Amino acid sequence: MSQFNMPTQVIAHAEREREQFLNDLYEYLAIPSVSAQPEHARDVRHAAVWLSEHLRNIGLTASVMETGGHPVVYAEWKHPEAGKPTVLVYGHYDVQPAEPFELWHSEPFKPTVRDGDIYARGSSDNKGQHLAHIKAVESYLKTTGGLPVNVKFLIEGEEEIGGPNLGAFVAANKELLACDVVMISDSHLLTLDQPTLLYGLRGLLYFEVEARCSAHDLHSGTYGGNVQNPAMALAQILAQLKTDQGVVTVPGFYDDVHVLGPEERAEIARIPQNEDTIKAETGASELFGEPGFNVPERMGARPTLEVNGLWSGYTGPGAKTVLPAIANAKISCRLVPYQDPAKIFEAVSAHMRRLTPPGTTLTFTMLQEGTRGTLIDRHAPQVQAAARAAQSTYGNPPIFTLEGGSIPVVNDFQDVLGKPIVLLGYGLPGDNLHAPDEHYAIACYEKGIEASIRFLAEL
Ligand code: BES
Ligand code: MN
Repeated sequence: MSQFNMPTQVIAHAEREREQFLNDLYEYLAIPSVSAQPEHARDVRHAAVWLSEHLRNIGLTASVMETGGHPVVYAEWKHPEAGKPTVLVYGHYDVQPAEPFELWHSEPFKPTVRDGDIYARGSSDNKGQHLAHIKAVESYLKTTGGLPVNVKFLIEGEEEIGGPNLGAFVAANKELLACDVVMISDSHLLTLDQPTLLYGLRGLLYFEVEARCSAHDLHSGTYGGNVQNPAMALAQILAQLKTDQGVVTVPGFYDDVHVLGPEERAEIARIPQNEDTIKAETGASELFGEPGFNVPERMGARPTLEVNGLWSGYTGPGAKTVLPAIANAKISCRLVPYQDPAKIFEAVSAHMRRLTPPGTTLTFTMLQEGTRGTLIDRHAPQVQAAARAAQSTYGNPPIFTLEGGSIPVVNDFQDVLGKPIVLLGYGLPGDNLHAPDEHYAIACYEKGIEASIRFLAEL
């Protein structure tokens, strides 16, 4: 058939352009597009402008589109023939804060290669992964002058802050984003020989709580022993939210949790992640988790409740005899299908109030809109096309897995666009996402480009 069905020459082009494709990634990674930090707002916009210019230079129509927050980059290439399928590639150009800087072995926004890995904030999550799709499109256009299908890109700038404006953007741009499949690479393989396709993601509920016991800080000599201490009160409350076995004690917390069937458990059991791999990746000496579930089940199929931040009182050098007035915690729950974020927030906050000792007042603040967990139809033909592309690229058929992380917009895509979603990760499990020394293997980038090329051909 047509040249479009022969990805080999296209892949050969990507191999020839290896150096240039890497340099493009380094340039992109040098832009500190930290969405959470207001002082980086201009860098965030700079990344959007850089990306849309890059897309335009390789032959797509591209623009920076405003939202209520950081802008999105939208680009497309339309096939001259009518009736070709359309793939919408989603990614995010924003990155997590790089702090604590002192724990990095090279500067987070000066991409540095060590041992075949590119060290930089955002290298794996997610610039290196969606740029692979862009380089696949570029390779096609340079080799054959066209693409086998219609391609749209939607690259957002607020994923790492929970995507507060993207849901509204997707709803308002239903026609613009209309497609036959959404392709997302924002997760990981198991190894470079073992691809995974996600058929589920966890959702997220995130809030902050303040415990207050007095109008202002107090002299601990004068008042200690007569007034409740909010740090102690909050610690007591938090300590009771889980059993020492790791089971969440909030009444109703597990009520709506999707129960794994035997077939699902058998599929998940193929995931070669276990206590030893987790220990090696994390440096933890022992694992801690719900009894009765194995490592991959706890990671993808069970909900969690975790403290993400905790502070109170004096934390500077030396001693200060003070009874703090307030104590704070950031708390999040990873949710699974079919838990409802609002209902879980109600249940957790009500339980915390019940556990609150006298003299203490709790105030709750939601930090992001809650997201539900997602399940995807893994039998959809578009997902199967991705499975074939992955098999030819990495040498083995993908394992279908459930991911513990969240990609908030996936639910909006499902609700508004109603098309299958392919979640084919290009990173590796030990990439240090959100942590110091985030990295992405050059091999992951190159294989990702190949997989993207093959996916376009398979469609
Ligand atoms: N790329 C991650 C999601 C992910 C994490 C996939 C780990 C596979 C493995 C994404 O960028 C992310 O970090 N999402 C956030 C969403 C949150 C800020 C609403 C997350 O999961 O914490
Ligand atoms: Mn992330």
